[in-house]
This record gives sequence, structure tokens and C-alpha cells, in this order.
Amino acid sequence: MTLSNWLFYAPTKIVFGPGSVASIADEVKALGASKLLIATDKGVAGAGVLKRVVQPLEAAGLAVTVYDGVEPNPSVTTVEKCYALFVQNGCELAIGLGGGSSMDTAKATCILATNPGPITLYGGANKVPNTPAPSIAIPTTAGTGAEVTQTCVVTDSTRNYKVSVRSTLNVCKTAVLDPLLLTSLPSAVVASTGMDALSHAVESYLSSGSSVLTEALSLEATRVIAKRLRAFVANPSDESAAADMLYASMTAGLAFSNGRLTAVHAIAHALGGHFHVAHGVACSLMLAPVMEFCLPVAAEKLAKVAEVMGEDVTGLPKDQAARKAVDAVAKLAKDIGVPTRLTQVGVTADKIDVLAADSDSSGIQNTTPRIPSIEEIKTLIQTTM
Ligand SMILES: [Fe+2]
Repeated sequence: MTLSNWLFYAPTKIVFGPGSVASIADEVKALGASKLLIATDKGVAGAGVLKRVVQPLEAAGLAVTVYDGVEPNPSVTTVEKCYALFVQNGCELAIGLGGGSSMDTAKATCILATNPGPITLYGGANKVPNTPAPSIAIPTTAGTGAEVTQTCVVTDSTRNYKVSVRSTLNVCKTAVLDPLLLTSLPSAVVASTGMDALSHAVESYLSSGSSVLTEALSLEATRVIAKRLRAFVANPSDESAAADMLYASMTAGLAFSNGRLTAVHAIAHALGGHFHVAHGVACSLMLAPVMEFCLPVAAEKLAKVAEVMGEDVTGLPKDQAARKAVDAVAKLAKDIGVPTRLTQVGVTADKIDVLAADSDSSGIQNTTPRIPSIEEIKTLIQTTM
């Protein structure tokens, strides 16, 4: 083992398993709350998933307020609306029920409960002064890992910029991971969120902020995603595939929350801010190009990625084995039908300068093993058009 210092912080209680959402009232009570708000979106509310959470809560005598206005890439205004409802109803705890957007809205609401707004004041690392109100995450997609990370992302619509709030205080108290909540997702959502999870896994492995522990988690997540994502996309009602992907996305979340990310997410956030590209699609588009860009400095790690993805690298020189990882990621994206060119998702060349500038200023890319310059970011975007 490399002789090095590292810190790993993952204080979230994880409750995993089919049907685990039935115990949600116990989890809320364990945190001392009797009035709570659920942040979710209209899709989750309409699909009946919300009912499966609200019923046990109300049966236990808890007062439930629902905010179902969360949109993809939630805005500062959305967070403020949710927070207003939280205050109006005297809530003590927020549950994020949905994908990353709903969990992030709940986390941001809990920050505002104990810290003055706007939420954008806390963009960056460890800028949240006061411990937020308690939050519980119930993911209904397998991708973001927000249930165990120290991050929430909110879009500042005035400048089309995604603000990432990263703080050791910004963690959910409890994550309830019930794979049965995932089995009615459209295949396209399974595919894009799965590629977000794969990005977290591979990026945190390559990251210069990784440790032996995050690397172990990154590789485990990469292995499971490479093995199971195709099956889950092919049949989103496959409970076993849902459980594996939910496990993998959480594991990747633990890895990147501590090991950090790379230029993939820096550029993906800029694409989300300016073109509203779905987060997982944006990550998927940039993952293979950034891996290839890192190849000259990260061949050994990329060769390991290829190996855990099931590629035969026996006897190959490291750089050739590494290239197999780039190809395997590109092939997975293609096989599951995620767009592979930026032009397919409406990205236009006239915004390349601002996309590169926003990626560079995000700070996220500073742990890329080969940090791209602004000119190199432009090239990465240009060659993916
Ligand atoms: Fe992500």
C-alpha cells in the first residue's frame, strides 16, 4: 500500500433493501422530527412512488408537506420555493425523494433552514457555516449518489451556471435505498443516470484526490456498472439489476464524495447550465474523451479500469490496455443508446468559449490527473461535437 495520508468522511446511515422504504417513519422519528417536507418531482408523484413514502409516514402520525415542483437541474428559485413551504409548515426535516435534483433540493432546503440565503453564497468547498436541518434521501434512480455525498448542485439561472455546494455539513443523515422504487423508470433515464454513476466511479478512481479506500470503492462500482447497466436498461423492471445499480451508484457516490471528480463533471456542469443537457448524458458525452486525454499520465489506472470492466488485457502493454477502457466506456454508452455527440443534444459551437471558461472556473477539474487548460477544454468539446 502507498504510504500516504488520507481522510474519508461518510457519516450517512445507509438502509438498503427491497421494501426498506416501509420503515421510513422510524427513520424520521429517530431524527426527532414530527413535521417534515418531501421534495420531489411531478413524475415521481404521478407514478405512485410518492404514495409509498407518504402512507407509512402519515400512518405513524407524522405531518407531511409535499413540494413536487423540482425540475431537472433545480434552480435557485426552486430551492427558495421549497424552503418557503418548509418554513410555512413548521417542518423540521426534509426528505429528497427522486433523482439527484430532488435530493439536492432537499439538501439545499435544509441548508437554508439554518443559514441565510441565497444558497449560491455557499458555492465551493466548506462555506456552509451552520449545521443544516436533518435530511433523508430516498433515490428513485441509480446514478447521482447524492444520498451519500457532501454535495448539492443548484443552477443560478441568471448566469446559466451550476453552483456546487460541497461541505462536510451537507450530508443526509439517512439514505433509504429501496430498489423496488426504481423498477418503473424509462430505459433512457436508466441509461443516462447509469452513465452518471459510471462517470463518478471512473473519475474518482483517476482523480488526484483519490485514496486507497476511494479507489477500492471506485473499482467496485465500475465493475458492477459494467456488468449490470446493460441488463437494467434492457429491462427496467428487473429488481435484481435495479438493486445492483443502486448499490453501485451509492458506492460510486462514497468514492467521489471523498476522492473528488475531474474535468468530465466540470464540463458536464457547464453543458447543463447553458444547454440544459441531462446531467448523466452530459457526463456520458465527456467521459471517454477526458479518459483519452488523461491516457498519457494515467495509463496504469486506465488499464485497471479496463480489467474491472471485463476487458481482456492479458499481456497487453499498459497504454494499449488503457485504451481498451476508453473504448469500453464509449461502447457501453453506444450500446445503451445514450447520445455520443454534443450536437445530438442541441449544443452549439458559438458557446464553446463560455463553456470552457465555466468549466475552468468550477474548480471541479483541479483534481483531473492531467488538468486541461482552457484551450484544451475547448478542443475536448470541439472534438465531441
Ligand atoms: Fe454526476
